[in-house]
Amino acid sequence: MADDVSRHGMWSSRLLFVLAATGSAVGLGNIWKFPYITGENGGGAFVLVYLICIAAIGIPVMMAEVLLGRAGRQSPINTLRTLVKDTGASSFWTVIGWMGVLAGFLILSYYAVIAGWAVSYIFRLAGGAFAGADGAVSTAIFGDFMASPWEVLLWHTVFMIATIFIVARGVVRGLQVAVRWLMPILLVLLLGLVGYAAIYGDFARALEFLFTFDASKLSWSGTLTAMGHAFFTLSLGMGAIMAYGAYLQSNTSISSTVITIGTLDTAVALAAGLAIFPIVFAVEGLVPGEGVGLMFQTLPIAFGNLPGGSILGALFFILVSFAAITSAISLTEPALTYLVEQYNAKRWRVAISLGVFCWLLGIGTVLSFNTWSDAKLFGLTFFEVVDYLSYKVMLPLGGLLIAVFVGWVLARRTVVSQLGYGDGKKWSLWETGIAFVAPAGIVIVFVYTIVQSFG
Ligand code: TRP
Repeated sequence: MADDVSRHGMWSSRLLFVLAATGSAVGLGNIWKFPYITGENGGGAFVLVYLICIAAIGIPVMMAEVLLGRAGRQSPINTLRTLVKDTGASSFWTVIGWMGVLAGFLILSYYAVIAGWAVSYIFRLAGGAFAGADGAVSTAIFGDFMASPWEVLLWHTVFMIATIFIVARGVVRGLQVAVRWLMPILLVLLLGLVGYAAIYGDFARALEFLFTFDASKLSWSGTLTAMGHAFFTLSLGMGAIMAYGAYLQSNTSISSTVITIGTLDTAVALAAGLAIFPIVFAVEGLVPGEGVGLMFQTLPIAFGNLPGGSILGALFFILVSFAAITSAISLTEPALTYLVEQYNAKRWRVAISLGVFCWLLGIGTVLSFNTWSDAKLFGLTFFEVVDYLSYKVMLPLGGLLIAVFVGWVLARRTVVSQLGYGDGKKWSLWETGIAFVAPAGIVIVFVYTIVQSFG
């Protein structure tokens, strides 16, 4: 059926795929988003639902995406076209590819803005702005920054240019360097921060907050947030991992690779939570439900009160920025490869056009925190609408379609030849996950959320 290599390039080893996919998965979702939505949704119960969604929905859907990508070896849209033809299925299923392209645009547009915040914090930290800072100082610095649209726009622009630069160089050349060195250093630094939080913060309360299950704290809409975040943090539901799967060698085991990626991603998120919440509980003026500024208001306090903290803090935000870049580039890959295939266009031209488009869309998010903060649709700012639509609607919907397509529609021989097994325990576990647990789980959360919000 499809070729054994992709025209866009190939990972040079299994390790490189793991690094690239982990680079895509680990990003602002783990360090910025996971802590603040956990704080807003009351802690333990939310964390548990999130962990269940990763294991029961995220892992099977990630396997399905890698399998689809490798079976088709093209952009997600053309991969789906090929597989639909091969299976004799309805061309409706290519909607997965199209919706993914759209979701990728929406997410990247605001992702680059928040990543720009992180880039600007490199210089704030290095300049010693947080020396001896307390909660009031860090909150004021963040507030002043948000109130300056031009400054936010500047860093948004810087980040977008850097992303497009790497994307234009091509997946393998652009990525290899970034993920091989920076990801491991980030992990070490994050663990160091957990150590700091354990000594100087209120570690016991943070543990209790993160790991005590109190069902009364969780609504269906909180459950949808946790599920949407499971997709977001693993980069699922829009074809990013499908696109990366297209460059994976045929003899690599999909199940064990995917489990490695999921575990690493979860470990980073929990470490971020364990670094941030002890500070929240120990510092006056900070609360768990702080919102989007949580990471920016807490971690600089730790750095500001450590010897050598300015340098360490700057290094930390450099690494967060790199983690964000290795995620951002995967958001463009589905659209980019499609345009290259369809119009035989040069990779760098497409990269620049996509970048300009997302940059423009991102201005809406820049202004959501200042000039447009009162402009609301259903009570949500521009940023909140884009965020909501992408991770609470489009990603889970994309995930549902992927699960049903692979679990029920796709020719069994394709699935079996990709996974390397077609019976036994592993197969039943996979089959149960992809055909039943994942689709049913997603539908149940959608339905109950709708019923609860309108009922
Ligand atoms: N997973 C990344 C993070 O946690 C964000 C991301 C990259 C993403 N690619 C994606 C989210 C594709 C959804 C879909 O920061």
